[in-house]
Amino acid sequence: MGRITEALKKVADERISRIQKKPEVQYIVKKVENTKIEPHIVAFHDPASPVGEQYKIIRTNIQSLRLKEDYKTFLITSSLNGEGKTVTSINLALTMANDLNNKSILLIDADMRKGKISKYMGISSSPGLSEILKGEVEADATFVSPNIANLTIMHSGKVPRNPAELLSSKKMLSLLSSLRTRFDYIFIDSPPVMPLTDPCIIGGMTDGVILVVQAARTQRDMVKTVEQRLYQAHAKLVGYIMTNVEYHLPHYLYRYVHEYDGYRAYYQTENVKEQKEEVMAHEV
Ligand SMILES: Nc1ncnc2c1ncn2[C@@H]1O[C@H](COP(=O)(O)OP(=O)(O)O)[C@@H](O)[C@H]1O
Ligand SMILES: [Mg+2]
Repeated sequence: MGRITEALKKVADERISRIQKKPEVQYIVKKVENTKIEPHIVAFHDPASPVGEQYKIIRTNIQSLRLKEDYKTFLITSSLNGEGKTVTSINLALTMANDLNNKSILLIDADMRKGKISKYMGISSSPGLSEILKGEVEADATFVSPNIANLTIMHSGKVPRNPAELLSSKKMLSLLSSLRTRFDYIFIDSPPVMPLTDPCIIGGMTDGVILVVQAARTQRDMVKTVEQRLYQAHAKLVGYIMTNVEYHLPHYLYRYVHEYDGYRAYYQTENVKEQKEEVMAHEV
């Protein structure tokens, strides 16, 4: 083999191995030590990260809705299980609570079938929504304070026999109307729309619905069906949050975008080639 052919082969081999080599995914969020709060809760662990900043943009959008109308109660839902509803709900509630205006935030786990807020927040579950709707406890007895200023959590409670019926009861309506007089913002985490009617029921009782869409998973047609179902239930869709977004930016550009104007950046490792963001697109 001639030297030129050899050199060309070497270059080609290097190129192939570069393409085949899976790029290392580097998460940009730092975990705070000694806490049981799940690392995806960036609004707690790393609010100044780019992902945290995305939540702050959503917060601004939510606050601006208040300027137009008295939007107070928001349902967070999605098409299917596992698209990031619960993580998004917690991050949103926390970001809202972190605002300097001392607004009181209530986060309700209305996924009475698979409620996970207690697990993600690292706190033990206690009586919650299902017990209130069954008439076993008053709302005040369910309020949990996770040691985060301005944030109150209401757990889902024990899995009831008839979640949809409980949610569509008059008790749920009166509960929400009394809660809205006591909190500045209420965020309600829920099960998915495709397999269950629960989110459509709650959606009709809230001021706005935020739809979580998972990048590379949620199908366009499914989103259309979900939008239709919410519309039929008189639920008002106010925006979308896209989760699990991966994007590639050259390091120098990434640094520029996030260091520009003195923004903080935690990811100044020289080798960062790929960043994975949790929340990129939003339209709330
Ligand atoms: N924005 C995100 N980016 C990447 N992974 C996520 C994101 N949100 C949630 N996850 C992970 O996806 C899984 C499902 O999230 P979860 O919020 O429980 O979904 P859902 O409530 O829609 O069922 C969890 O393991 C969670 O850690
Ligand atoms: Mg969930």
